[in-house]
Amino acid sequence: MHYQSLLAASALLATSIAIPLEPRQSPALSFDYDSQKVYGVNLGGWFVLEPWITPSLFQQFSNDPSVVDEYTLSAALGQSQAQSQLSAHWNSWITEDDFRQIAAMGLNHVRIPIGYWAISPQSGDPYVQGQLNVLDKAVGWADTYGLKVMLDLHGVPGSQNGFDNSGHRGSNNWQNTDPSDSLAKASITALAERYAANSAVTMIQAVNEPLTTNGQLDVNFVKKYYYDAWGSIRQVNGQQNTAHTVLAIHDGFQGVPFWNGFMNSGSGTDNVLLDTHIYQIFTDQQVSMTPAQHVQTACGQASMLAASDKWTVVGEWTGAQTDCALWLNGLGVGARYDGSFSGSSYVGSCDGKRTGTVEGLSSDDKKNLRSLIEAQLDAYSAHTGWIFWTWKNEAAPEWHLQNLTAAGIFPQPLSDRQYPGQCS
Ligand SMILES: *[C@@H]1O[C@H](CO)[C@@H](O)[C@H](O)[C@H]1NC(C)=O
Repeated sequence: MHYQSLLAASALLATSIAIPLEPRQSPALSFDYDSQKVYGVNLGGWFVLEPWITPSLFQQFSNDPSVVDEYTLSAALGQSQAQSQLSAHWNSWITEDDFRQIAAMGLNHVRIPIGYWAISPQSGDPYVQGQLNVLDKAVGWADTYGLKVMLDLHGVPGSQNGFDNSGHRGSNNWQNTDPSDSLAKASITALAERYAANSAVTMIQAVNEPLTTNGQLDVNFVKKYYYDAWGSIRQVNGQQNTAHTVLAIHDGFQGVPFWNGFMNSGSGTDNVLLDTHIYQIFTDQQVSMTPAQHVQTACGQASMLAASDKWTVVGEWTGAQTDCALWLNGLGVGARYDGSFSGSSYVGSCDGKRTGTVEGLSSDDKKNLRSLIEAQLDAYSAHTGWIFWTWKNEAAPEWHLQNLTAAGIFPQPLSDRQYPGQCS
């Protein structure tokens, strides 16, 4: 491999021959990813809107089918309305009390998605700004309650996957929009410069879910970007980043084993963590599995995770066994589970799961949720740990960690088991 930044990294190492490649862990890092487990939750739908997390923000345009994501919502609202509605949302969706509750339930990490447009907006974008002032507060609250923060660049210019959660649903245009990766890297540099000195921020994620499996984004482009992003967070404000902030890299939907050998402890790149997302609801075959098959599938991930040659977290997962939640597959798109998704066929009814509350779920659904959550807690602790998606939402009960916990469906303490030994 001849990536420029790898060469730069090797050159750096060559000048400091007294420093061995091991250990990966710098003493400056404020969380020990070798010996402690990551238990975390995503703060989804906060700085990056997703229609299924906050449908109320999108319902005002129910007559306009072009409004499907933050980009088109902002364009439809116009700058001043977008600024006022989104600022109100940023200041109320998650507050200091949420950080207190998250810490009180025994979690130690929050993953915070943020889009490039909050950090390095591009001219012509309809997006509005002001998120960073609220993110500053969030990092402060995390520090107050002893939580570590994984800052996650959830959208890059052009979109890395075409999903609505990249900010702009449609095509995957990152590589064309940003051929030298400098636009995405500018956000990483700015995040590192703003937060590297804060010991609550232990991780910066280069990019969320780059879709490298459909021919629109070359995985080698993503690999080069990962080296570049590592270099960016190792130098802040022209100085060496003595905090040795972890670079988190998503598996690009290639699976965990694909990344063995890449940026591991022998590669000269310290403190790199692999992020994989495990959902069992986005194919017809997956939504037709029985509860027992869902549990078996979860348990089956443990050995794959354990075999990774670098720190590895399951950075997104859910209790959901269906894709019923309203607009989960995109605004206006149906669900595979009840056959309303184009090309799918009926497995069961989405009643109470399309919109609803945790309290309103049937007792069977509650049992199945608890059992699958327990299996995933067991399996996903096999390496570095896990981060649930997501803390709260308006009406998707299977995905609402705050309410799942209050209802006794998410274990408290985290080690409590009503279905012990499912994975053994
Ligand atoms: C979560 O709990 C709050 C407070 O009880 C409630 O208003 C809300 O509807 C619940 N949402 C879900 C999805 O369970």
